[in-house]
Amino acid sequence: MRGTAILVAALLATAGPAVADPLAPAGRWSAYSHGAATLPPMGWNSWNAFNSGIDEEKLMASARIIVDSGLAAKGYRYIGIDDGWWLRRNQQDGRMVVRTATFPSAALPDGTTSFRPLTDRLHAMGLKAGIYSDIGRNSCGQVYTSSFPNQPEGTVAEREVGLYGHVEQDIALYFREWGFDLIKVDACGIRALPATNPLVTSGQYRAFEPLIDADSLGRTDIAAVRRLYEQVGAALLKNNPDGDFVFSLCLWGSANVRAWAKDVGNMSRTSEDISPNWSRMLHNLDSVSRRPLYAHPGSWNDPDMLFIGSGEFDADHLVAARSHFALWAMVNAPLIIGYDLRQAPPALMEVLGNSRIIALDQDPAGNQAVLAFDSDDVDIFVKTLSSGEKAVAILNRTSTPIEATLTAQHLKYRADADIALTDLWTGATSSFRGETKLRLAPRQTLIFTSRGARRLADGLYLSEMPGSVNPAVDGVTAPEIEPLIHRGLLPWMGTRGTGERAHYGGWGGAQADSTPYGQQLSVAGQRFDTGIGVLANSRLEVRNAGYRRFSAEVGIDDSARTRKTPVTFALYADGKLLARSRPLHWGEPPEPLSADITGAKLIELIARAETPSDVPSPVTWANAALTR
Ligand code: GLA
Repeated sequence: MRGTAILVAALLATAGPAVADPLAPAGRWSAYSHGAATLPPMGWNSWNAFNSGIDEEKLMASARIIVDSGLAAKGYRYIGIDDGWWLRRNQQDGRMVVRTATFPSAALPDGTTSFRPLTDRLHAMGLKAGIYSDIGRNSCGQVYTSSFPNQPEGTVAEREVGLYGHVEQDIALYFREWGFDLIKVDACGIRALPATNPLVTSGQYRAFEPLIDADSLGRTDIAAVRRLYEQVGAALLKNNPDGDFVFSLCLWGSANVRAWAKDVGNMSRTSEDISPNWSRMLHNLDSVSRRPLYAHPGSWNDPDMLFIGSGEFDADHLVAARSHFALWAMVNAPLIIGYDLRQAPPALMEVLGNSRIIALDQDPAGNQAVLAFDSDDVDIFVKTLSSGEKAVAILNRTSTPIEATLTAQHLKYRADADIALTDLWTGATSSFRGETKLRLAPRQTLIFTSRGARRLADGLYLSEMPGSVNPAVDGVTAPEIEPLIHRGLLPWMGTRGTGERAHYGGWGGAQADSTPYGQQLSVAGQRFDTGIGVLANSRLEVRNAGYRRFSAEVGIDDSARTRKTPVTFALYADGKLLARSRPLHWGEPPEPLSADITGAKLIELIARAETPSDVPSPVTWANAALTR
């Protein structure tokens, strides 16, 4: 072995360093495309409704209502068990044991336990089944809500119910033997059990030197966290030869996951837990709203489960409940109901069952809405649909009525032709030219589909098709926290402490119609409302569905902090170089870059800094578009 290692090392030394160039064109789409999530998963999960007080009766009752009410036929299929199902890990064979007191059908005559009878019943109803685990040894409930019912029991080792050290065995058990179709993998076990935690010092749990410091990216071992999740992904592939699984990451936006989950799993939480209040809903929405380029068919941003039915989204707050639903659909969130459906009044079932809005979420183009107007008071989201129409949602974030102006420019339609709107709640139609004034009640979201004369008549701007644009390398060298996320009062903190400091990485990532740091795109004083903003030393992959031409105007964005580093822009099609700019300096006017891409499946846009720099420059692919 040792001899071989020396030989390999010697060969490498003669061949020179074999460090792969991350900007080399890959010639293939590299975002995650395993599993069964070409559309955002839809379904129900026990946590928001019951916390760990879930049992078989409650679960099956909700499943039955989902089928009988017609929600299943509208797409709600995954019935997920969250925290609270486990009893212990058997020490003889390492197998997980189900809590049969709450899931009686799991008790087999031979004294062992299995969820197979339950998943069989769900499958027979045409539904899919979801299970829950943790990437560490211990669960979120054990660490954070140990006063909740149904905590694992037994010795310290028996209570180690998470995947750590058991990935292969548990995934095989849950998917091959028990027949689950989805797993949500939480991460409290690698976050919260340092040797100093009283739960550890008192002997309740084994210490796990935290890989995640949820308050500090610098103190988080991002690569190690990612590797653990990749192991789960590998086990899922191995144990699901038919590819019929959903891998749901639950890292609450920590560990810079908003940048890499798109390469590792099917859906990924971008923030801490949602609560049934308006302020928290805004917080969770904001954690995805500037990340449309990081969601694609197969891998979605997850602002957490729906809280429709509870608190400020209950039947007495239908305006807010409708907003929550409309916004989740606009950003292609997985639509996971978190409500005890046995109590749902018809008005709430109507919100959850609005077919027009579900269709937006489930639109096959998979374009997460882009912010066309972004403020602390009003947001305007626009989403390009596979039909060529656009959906638009205007959100009044405030608690006072507001008048908003929707313009043709927001929609990238021409101002001199009629724009037709269909209200997705009422079905009412209207039309306008140029701009129209809209009155919004407190916390209201108006949501329409629209038709108009497209400013770009014969193609799509890349910022209109984020579902087909993957920032394979986004140029971020040192992960930074995104500062633009709504900070409300945490229900469990009030005004104790100094206020919430969200710690979600991803700042400086690629953006649609904005620079990586949220500024308007601008090159040599020329402003652009359309384009992709990204840092230098980046590689964007773009799927091409039959377009013949790529065109853009490229340059270093005026917002760059360093003016010394020239950048070269290159365009590849299926791995072949088609066009390259000369090295462009800060302050030089934008340079056209275009080529015939007829027949190509994958376009790659590479921006390379020509000299090393500590501060990566924002670069602008202005008006980047695919045309016929
Ligand atoms: C974490 C997750 C929640 C839920 C609970 C269960 O907080 O983010 O969605 O799964 O754990 O304990």
